[in-house]
Amino acid sequence: MKLAMKRLNRILSYLFDDIKNLSYEDRDLPMRWSVMHMYSTSQLGVLVALKKGLNPELLGIIAALHDIGSIKTKRRENHAKNASKYVYEIIELYNSTLRGNLPVINESEINIIHEAIINHSDKDIKSEDPYIEAMKDIDSLDRYLHGIETKGDHLTHLNNMLDLFELRELE
Ligand SMILES: [Fe+2]
Repeated sequence: MKLAMKRLNRILSYLFDDIKNLSYEDRDLPMRWSVMHMYSTSQLGVLVALKKGLNPELLGIIAALHDIGSIKTKRRENHAKNASKYVYEIIELYNSTLRGNLPVINESEINIIHEAIINHSDKDIKSEDPYIEAMKDIDSLDRYLHGIETKGDHLTHLNNMLDLFELRELE
């Protein structure tokens, strides 16, 4: 058995190459963190989607692109909303060129990806969209797994994940 991950892998390969062309200077967050977080959240996205019955490749793509606003602009402020144009650009590039013979990312998937990314920083607001909430949870879980102090809204989202994987007793 195997998972259908070719579209996600193609996008991650593109991001890996694209990031090498960006300036590493004067960033709110070091590029090494952004790259680490991009790869680890995309894997967590696949796992969380499998556990929640969501589309694992779609959640993996969302996670891979979720901080593209901060990666491209070097700034954390409004990075979720600022991701909008980069998300559309990268998916357009994927659909027109990068995908080769792989399936397109269709309109309804684009909509899900875009909404999850531009809303992922609103950790104090609860959405009815499972992909938006999953992305917030994954973001908080990944920071925690990298040893970052977790409190406030991040802790709420981390606890969602610890519950999902029945890990609360580790606290
Ligand atoms: Fe993030």
